[in-house]
Amino acid sequence: MTQNILLLPGDGIGPEIMAQAVRVLERLKSDGLDIAWDNALIGGCAVDATGVPFPQETQDKALAADAVLLAAVGGPQYDVLPREQRPERGLLAIRKVMNVFSNLRPALVYPELVEASTLKPEVISGLDIIIVRELVGDIYFGEPRGIEMRDTEFGNERVGYNTMVYSESEIRRIAHSAFKTAQKRAKKLCSVDKMNVLEATQLWRDVVIEVSAEYPDVELSHMLVDNAAMQLVRNPKQFDVMVTGNMFGDILSDAASMLTGSIGMLPSASLDANGKGLYEPIHGSAPDIAGKNLANPLAMILSVAMMLRHSLNQVAAADRVDSAVKQVLAQGYRTGDIMTEGGKKVGTVEMGDAVLAVL
Ligand code: NAI
Ligand code: MG
Repeated sequence: MTQNILLLPGDGIGPEIMAQAVRVLERLKSDGLDIAWDNALIGGCAVDATGVPFPQETQDKALAADAVLLAAVGGPQYDVLPREQRPERGLLAIRKVMNVFSNLRPALVYPELVEASTLKPEVISGLDIIIVRELVGDIYFGEPRGIEMRDTEFGNERVGYNTMVYSESEIRRIAHSAFKTAQKRAKKLCSVDKMNVLEATQLWRDVVIEVSAEYPDVELSHMLVDNAAMQLVRNPKQFDVMVTGNMFGDILSDAASMLTGSIGMLPSASLDANGKGLYEPIHGSAPDIAGKNLANPLAMILSVAMMLRHSLNQVAAADRVDSAVKQVLAQGYRTGDIMTEGGKKVGTVEMGDAVLAVL
């Protein structure tokens, strides 16, 4: 049966890098993969065309598709819009609507790009970890929230507040997702919380321990988030899979990605309970280099590989794409963001050419 993919090119460099991903899809299709795709609007381009960042038509198509591939949204021209109309609202909305609660963020250091990192080679060479971040709960969505006038010890003044809240069902489903991810790798899972201070994360730890009974083959450890931040920089290779809540995961996954030094190289997956997912590079729309054939399309192409692996169950095709990216790096092709000494400087399209040549 044909598997249907929805493509959301978005804004800035989005359409340029998506064009290279589409060339990869075309190649796989002509080699026999039974896939089809359609396009829709999200972010700034959707605001321009329809007045809203996540139009109903896009929502319908996203829910009907087997997987969604998104490039990036946003741009300085939209900063003047009210909050509900901002392109980034489209991102939050599609994650919520698809109920993709499990965000997989790999941080992988390619041997050819070790020098792109700001850390010492011995600390990061060979690094290959995944952070599993809960994506639709926690303090980012918790109620009550707001800014209001209150009487405090200083007098009547503005007070800002948010609520960190997790139900045991929310914790259980992300824990299952993390244990399953760990089972496919080194069978080592580190759960990160702040149980010494926050009740919500005491429950987190309790439930993760309960779920661990179903995964006796996975070695579970726990770490407080402040220590985890420190350990990620001191000795990141001690980890394999880490699982944590939305806010801690936001911060730790960005820190982990920068260990690799190459924002243009990192894909991500956001999965629902059935493995349906939203796949996107971790970087934004890079308005500073948009339209100049400068963007690195590899994070986008690696997002295709994650989609093949996690939603379309096409592991051989996923391996083929991952391997093609490794080969073009070994051949010395470099966009500006990953330039290394002696590298062959290429643009977005030429990097796509190199990947296609290997495929
Ligand atoms: P950004 O990730 O777009 O860019 C940060 C820096 O990295 C820039 O210098 C950019 O040129 C470079 N860069 C990013 N991707 C690259 C690639 N593939 N190849 C080469 N260089 C690359 O983050 P920034 O500048 O903070 O945000 C720009 C816009 O993107 C904003 O409107 C922001 O809201 C939006 N954004 C969207 C995201 C998404 O769609 N998931 C995530 C982050 C930001
Ligand atoms: Mg972030």
